[in-house]
Amino acid sequence: MKTSSFPTFSFLALLCTTTVLSSPSYRDSVRRDPGPHPPFPFKTLNRTAGPPPEDTELHTGDITWFNVSLGACGWMNDGYAQDVVALSYKLMGNQSWGNPYCGRTITVSYKGKYIQPMVVDKCADCEDPDNIDLSVQAFSELADLGVGRDKATWWFNN
Ligand SMILES: *[C@@H]1O[C@H](CO)[C@@H](O)[C@H](O)[C@H]1NC(C)=O
Ligand SMILES: *[C@@H]1O[C@H](CO)[C@@H](O)[C@H](O)[C@H]1NC(C)=O
Ligand SMILES: *[C@@H]1O[C@H](CO)[C@@H](O)[C@H](O)[C@H]1NC(C)=O
Repeated sequence: MKTSSFPTFSFLALLCTTTVLSSPSYRDSVRRDPGPHPPFPFKTLNRTAGPPPEDTELHTGDITWFNVSLGACGWMNDGYAQDVVALSYKLMGNQSWGNPYCGRTITVSYKGKYIQPMVVDKCADCEDPDNIDLSVQAFSELADLGVGRDKATWWFNN
């Protein structure tokens, strides 16, 4: 028994080391329970959201889109059907699962249209903390996917 447990342990240790080393540190530095996916509080399209209350902190950055699936928050999402968003790693910090931003919603204002996606992922390419990466569903409510990247204003709802 003793002789066989050592190689098993080594193999597991090697597996863990390999996993950690091959993953970006922003994703795996803190693993917590992701918790249940919060219910979506809004209908997908909410163009009546309107401008924010006066004391709201506004963010202006680039909006882009990507195929959201299993996000850094630890939830499985369908970016082709759900209004969800990844915030910059510079804003969200190292923690993935259980990150305090996970499950919050933002309002994005773009050319007179408003959407209210939920934060479910972290954007590793968002070097500006105000840049956000929207799901295909969310982006396409604001603009043609072919636009690719443009400036928009957004703020936290909660
Ligand atoms: C739209 O957003 C506003 C402001 O956040 C909210 O009060 C309202 O309930 C939302 N409407 C729908 C239909 O979800
Ligand atoms: C989006 O991602 C999911 C999960 O990885 C994959 O199954 C699906 O084929 C992707 N869709 C597109 C259009 O790339
Ligand atoms: C995030 O992780 C990096 C790399 O491991 C580390 O240098 C940095 O101090 C961490 N930041 C925080 C806020 O924990």
